[in-house]
Amino acid sequence: MRVIIEPSAELGSQRAASIVAQLVRKKPRAILGLATGGTPLKLYQELIRMHQSEGLDFSRVTSFNLDEYVGLPPTHPQSYRHFMTENLFRHVNIDIRNTHVPDGRALDYETYGSQYEAMIEEAGGIDLQILGIGRDGHIAFNEPGSSLGSRTRLKTLAPETIRDNARFFGTEEDVPRLAITMGVGTILESKKCILLAFGKDKAEAIAATVEGPVTAQVTGSALQFHRDVVVILDEESASQLQRRSYYDEVEEAHRRLQSGEVK
Ligand code: F6R
Repeated sequence: MRVIIEPSAELGSQRAASIVAQLVRKKPRAILGLATGGTPLKLYQELIRMHQSEGLDFSRVTSFNLDEYVGLPPTHPQSYRHFMTENLFRHVNIDIRNTHVPDGRALDYETYGSQYEAMIEEAGGIDLQILGIGRDGHIAFNEPGSSLGSRTRLKTLAPETIRDNARFFGTEEDVPRLAITMGVGTILESKKCILLAFGKDKAEAIAATVEGPVTAQVTGSALQFHRDVVVILDEESASQLQRRSYYDEVEEAHRRLQSGEVK
């Protein structure tokens, strides 16, 4: 894991956007894995800015979102399809037919999960997966106890996730209890992952994910098995890391390599 600690969420999001932009420029038909929630909002704002002022071209990009609440139609203001439309898709030139968000109204979730996996595979697999993390260490909606080999399927939201997401719905009662989500195994197959976390509420989950043992109780920790993960943090979310000074040294070494100071 490469751990990058930026002074703020703004700078962290810009750093993530530059990695996304680099990929899209190099591979216009890139397959992006996208996340919802509060964390990637600034990243999406920066990608919109890059599209509008630097001509970053999404016209041939395909996207797959991590998850969707069960029972919400795409038009529901809290559905993840609606979130993506409002916060990214309608502001860039992505072809909406190439955007995929799991269908929260599928009747047969087992079959639907396999179909979603097949669509990802047919597209050539995810080149770059954007991830946030829950306070309980979940990635996508893979709550504690999820199999680290899991694939796209139904999951029951954990009580802490319901509490956290109530801020978007108004009350806890309104938060759907079920979601359809990519599995940990699905995420581990993406070619590269960027895990974003900002704010002190994420510090414990980040310490467990980056430096703790690999365990299904913290599904983010499975990313330790992935060969290309960039973890982008702000000072607060990095505050419980034990090996902080080492991560800074690694970044300094990267900087010197890139600037040609070290051959
Ligand atoms: C969203 C997702 C979730 C969130 C996580 C953090 O698509 O998969 O894992 O990334 O719950 O949510 P926020 O960013 O709202 O703190």
